[in-house]
Parts: sequence; structure tokens; C-alpha cells
Amino acid sequence: MKTLRAVITGTGSYAPSRIMTNDDFAAYLDTSDSWIRERTGIRERRIAAEGEATSDLAVEAAKKALESADLTAADIDGILLATATPDIAFPSTACLVQARLGATRAFAFDLNAVCSGFVYAMTVAKSLVETGAARRLLVIGSEVMSRSLDWKDRGTAILFGDGAGAVVVESSTTVSRGLGSFRLGADGRHWEMIHVPAGGTRLTKEAATIRMKGGETFKMAVRQLQESVLEVLALDGVSPAEVALLVPHQANVRIIDALASRLALPPEKVMVNIDRYGNTSAASIPVALDEAVRGGRVHEGDRVLLTAFGAGVTWGSGLLTWEADLQKRSRT
Ligand code: ACO
Repeated sequence: MKTLRAVITGTGSYAPSRIMTNDDFAAYLDTSDSWIRERTGIRERRIAAEGEATSDLAVEAAKKALESADLTAADIDGILLATATPDIAFPSTACLVQARLGATRAFAFDLNAVCSGFVYAMTVAKSLVETGAARRLLVIGSEVMSRSLDWKDRGTAILFGDGAGAVVVESSTTVSRGLGSFRLGADGRHWEMIHVPAGGTRLTKEAATIRMKGGETFKMAVRQLQESVLEVLALDGVSPAEVALLVPHQANVRIIDALASRLALPPEKVMVNIDRYGNTSAASIPVALDEAVRGGRVHEGDRVLLTAFGAGVTWGSGLLTWEADLQKRSRT
């Protein structure tokens, strides 16, 4: 039997049209455009319209990913949706997306690892594809973080935004590398570092808004991202200098800069779009990857490194070789 490799063959993303700038916050909060830009790298973020939910964003991103893979929804065997902000408690948002896309053959489930959700979902997708359990998957990260914000808390409200990104992951006997090593981690002892204390079965009287220990999160993120990235690079025998593009979770540009400098990666090898979207949690990596691909920053054969850290706390990294065109040309 030929070895099955998992490979990305399409990407897509979607952001709500409403833009909220730093000055919009400064108009009612004790903050300023310069503080937000200097401390986080964020200039503006997108905010979902009233009535626009996580599945609406996910469907738009998924349609674009399918189009770029030259596939239709009927070709898809499964939908993995990473989100911490589902439309409703159940069923899963992935099922709502499956129905809207008309992906009638696809199984569908949500996965919640908050900001690390997309890397977690890609790890599951790789396993499903490489064991032959599925041939073609849609992996989506979609969030409406704006509905979990305390708009009066300047320490968190300014950080987050809404968006969705998607990729098609296919099995291939043609590509030689595709998705390489992926490794995940979690340390639930730090669950309070970033959390929403309500909305689930632990009945509390607290509001369902984000609480975060920003400084602690910052320090742990830098340390853990570096460790996680070095682990997957070592597993694949790749040096940081061989990485063509780092696509990190976009939580704070200073976290990204610290990681890039520890890996000695120059700015042209680091994808940053936090200035336009803020932190979109599980959506941030697939949105950044889609923009990198469409912007001509990813070429056949390039090594692309994904890495994320988020609530849980959770983290994960994955190394892939971009072989989308090779796989599309070899489809029978
Ligand atoms: N405008 C102006 N001042 C502010 C603002 C603001 N928006 N926010 C905080 N400050 C103030 C603080 O009150 C504090 O004032 P004080 O000294 O009078 O007490 C001062 O600025 C410094 O506060 P710090 O918290 O030390 O600021 P810092 O430089 O650490 O930036 C930030 C805060 C942006 C939150 C940063 O810590 C950070 O990005 N942390 C990581 C967040 C992250 O990675 N999250 C990822 C996971 S999210 C998820 O999984 C859902």
C-alpha cells in the first residue's frame, strides 16, 4: 500500500465588513491609538454584524477554500471546525456549516482549544487523512470573539476581533512531504489565565466575558511557543533558517517579534496581519495563511511553520511543505 500524505490544496478566509479602529475605543475608554499600536501591534479589527454568527463567517471562508482547491462541497468527507464561540450550545457549528455548504457526505464536529484550535484541528485532520479514514477535509477556524468581550475592560476589549479561515486537507500519494510533524500541548492548571467564567454547566453568576492575566499570558506564550516550534523542527530535522514562512497565532505583535528573534527569522519570513484583525483566536492562523498564499508569499516546496498558544492553556505547532499545485495536477 502506498504511503498516504496529508496536503493543503486550498485556502480561504472571510472577515466581517465592519471595521472598529483604536480611536473608536479611545472615544469611550481610557486608552489611545498609540498605546494599543505600541503595546499590541493592532490598528483595527473586524466586528460581526448583528445577527452574523460564527457559522456565517465559516461558510464564507470554506467556500473560498473549496474554490481555490478546485473542489465542491460534495467532494468533502469531513468538516473540522475549531471555535470557542459556537453559534449555539449544540449541535455543533460544524453541522450548521455542513448543511449550509451542502456537504452532504461529510461528517462534522467542533473542536475547542481556543487560540490553538486551528493547530489542534490540523493535527486531527492529518491523522484522519494519513490513516485513510478520510480523503478530503475542510478544516476551519471561525470566531465571533466580539460577543465574549467586556467592552468596558480596556485590558481585553481592544485585543480581539472576528473572522474565519479555512483550508482543504487532502490525502495524496504524489507529494513527498505535505503536512510534516505536528505536536500539541496543554496545561490545564493554568485554566484561569485566560477564561470565560460562564456559558457552560458550571452555574455561575458571572458575565460570559473574557478574563485574562495579560502579563502572565505574554511571558508563558513566548516561552511555550519557542519550545513547541523547536520540538517540531527537530522532529523533521529542519533548522529555523530553512523555514520560508512562520505563520504564528496573532495575539500580540511583541509576542511574534520575540519568537521571530529567538528563531533568528527576518521580518520577510514572518506573517503578521494582527494590525488589521486583532486576535481572532482559532481563525487567526488560517486567515494569515490564506493572506500569505494569496499575497504570493508561499511557493511550491516552501517550508511553512504554524504555531499557536491560547487559553487552556494550550499550544501547538506544525511544519508543512507547500505542495498544493503538485497535488492538484496529480488528481485523477
Ligand atoms: N490602554 C491603555 N492602557 C492600558 C490598556 C489599554 N488598552 N490596557 C492596559 N493598560 C494599562 C494597564 O492598566 C497598566 O496600567 P498600570 O501600570 O497603571 O497598572 C499598564 O497599561 C501596563 O499594563 P500591562 O498589562 O503590563 O501591559 P502590557 O504591556 O503587558 O500589555 C497586553 C497588556 C496587551 C494584554 C499584553 O499583556 C498581552 O498581549 N498579553 C498576551 C495576550 C495573549 O497572548 N493572549 C493570547 C491568548 S487569548 C485566548 O486564548 C482567547
